[in-house]
Amino acid sequence: MTERGTIPAVFLDRDGTIIEDRGHLRNPSEAVFFPETLRALRRLQKSFKFFIVTHQPGIAEGVIRAEEVARVNEHVVRRLAQAGICIERVYCCPHRRSDNCGCIKPKAYYLHMAAREFGVDLGKSFVIGDHPHDVELARNAGATGIYVLTGHGTKHRSQLAAGALVVADIGQAAQQILETCAEGQRGEGLDAAVVQAAALLRAGGVVAFPTETVYGLGASALDAKAVARVFEIKCRPRFDPLIVHVSRKEDAQSIVMDFPQVAQDLVDRFWPGPLTLVLPKCAEIPDIVTAGLPNVAIRMPDHPMALALIRETDAPLAAPSANPFGRISPTTAEHVQRQLGREVDLVLDGGPCRVGIESTVLSLVDGKPALLRAGGVPVEDIEIIAGPVSWSRCSGRPSAPGQLPQHYAPRTPLIVHGENDVSTDERRVGLLSFQGPARAREVAAVEILSPGGNLREAAANLFASLHRLDSLGLELIVAEALPDIGLGLAMNDRLRRAARGSGLRCSDVQGI
Ligand code: TXA
Ligand code: MG
Repeated sequence: MTERGTIPAVFLDRDGTIIEDRGHLRNPSEAVFFPETLRALRRLQKSFKFFIVTHQPGIAEGVIRAEEVARVNEHVVRRLAQAGICIERVYCCPHRRSDNCGCIKPKAYYLHMAAREFGVDLGKSFVIGDHPHDVELARNAGATGIYVLTGHGTKHRSQLAAGALVVADIGQAAQQILETCAEGQRGEGLDAAVVQAAALLRAGGVVAFPTETVYGLGASALDAKAVARVFEIKCRPRFDPLIVHVSRKEDAQSIVMDFPQVAQDLVDRFWPGPLTLVLPKCAEIPDIVTAGLPNVAIRMPDHPMALALIRETDAPLAAPSANPFGRISPTTAEHVQRQLGREVDLVLDGGPCRVGIESTVLSLVDGKPALLRAGGVPVEDIEIIAGPVSWSRCSGRPSAPGQLPQHYAPRTPLIVHGENDVSTDERRVGLLSFQGPARAREVAAVEILSPGGNLREAAANLFASLHRLDSLGLELIVAEALPDIGLGLAMNDRLRRAARGSGLRCSDVQGI
């Protein structure tokens, strides 16, 4: 019976696996370590306990004494200890096969003993050896066997059971173990929904997923047809390019022609996070992603579910915000469900978005940083790293399409307070206030973004508040302008454009 512990272990054969097989060793001086042994065990020691399981039939045969074997074993353990590697126990079977003992490999006797005495979880453990018996031993214990071609490995390879893991030496065995574990953890730690979403994306599907800014509507950035569906679902004009999302900083470099030092500095400071960089694209990114522009916008989102999804899909994801074009951005899965739920293949729910407004889009294509869209990273913070940032407030047409004048709009007409002086008395009015209205007003509903006057909190609440006001069937939303600093700049930008686009339907907006 296999006892269930919790500790993963690696059971190491001795001769031919960690030291050269030179027949019966009587003297410590005869033990010669393979060059890869120390490094391999160092790589594994953070995650595994080590045991040696060795078969020394020479003892029963009378050609070598048990004390001689013990001395060599002690030497091996000491030498490894000097290198900082701990062997918990050396298990040694001294019998001949004809003795019919209970401890000879491939019987799992010693592995069960380790499970009992050291709390080893054999299911999470490995056996490395140069004899088919080592692989069988692993199988009998419910562990994973790895066969090395050192020692007698080459000679007995033909006797191996089909499907056995075979590697050159202990160094490669360690590599194999680490990869197997990384894969297992990836699988284990992943939500089933993320696995399903990644499978859909790999098959050309469209999936809505959470990021720290807003929910994105994702497709594989390498699949032009899937990206075309994103444009269709969103009713988004084809001239408005999409951001490509990566899960590792290094991946950004592989989809651009050049990654200047300032990009590296910005990425080191702000990624993962709400900063998108625009750089000259490489040929691999289909033109539809960049709307035919020679540049691509890239960011690494700061949300564990987004990162897991990109990694599991094994492709960068092109994703705009997951709202119909021109409408209020979604900061919860429910916002997405309501607006686009029927059109997308799956909506992943990662909770409300922490930042709440879209990423800052910064172009680095002309050598000098230029702001294309204010967003989650305040410009002031970018300037500390990148120097002065230029910003042309509205370009009309899309070399910087994020500057489309009408966007983020509720269906309810919206005005920004102070820009338009209207009497609100006779209408059903909703108020979007930063810290709360300064004077009592006769309004149907009030949304307060941050009673304490915190711009971050206000940003995180902005779109959800707009969604709520928009769902009340009001005649008008009056939004207070925010202080024009930090994230306030990005929020005012959203509010002004919401004001221009409000009341328009998707089809009206498309022609802009
Ligand atoms: O926070 C965000 O950026 C969210 C999440 C999902 O990552 N995404 C987002 O995407 O807001 P979207 O498509 O709604 O806005 C992307 C902005 C647009 O203003 C677009 O014009 C601009 O980035 N953009 C994308 N690619 C560009 C490019 N190649 N050159 C210039 N601007 C680009
Ligand atoms: Mg051996």
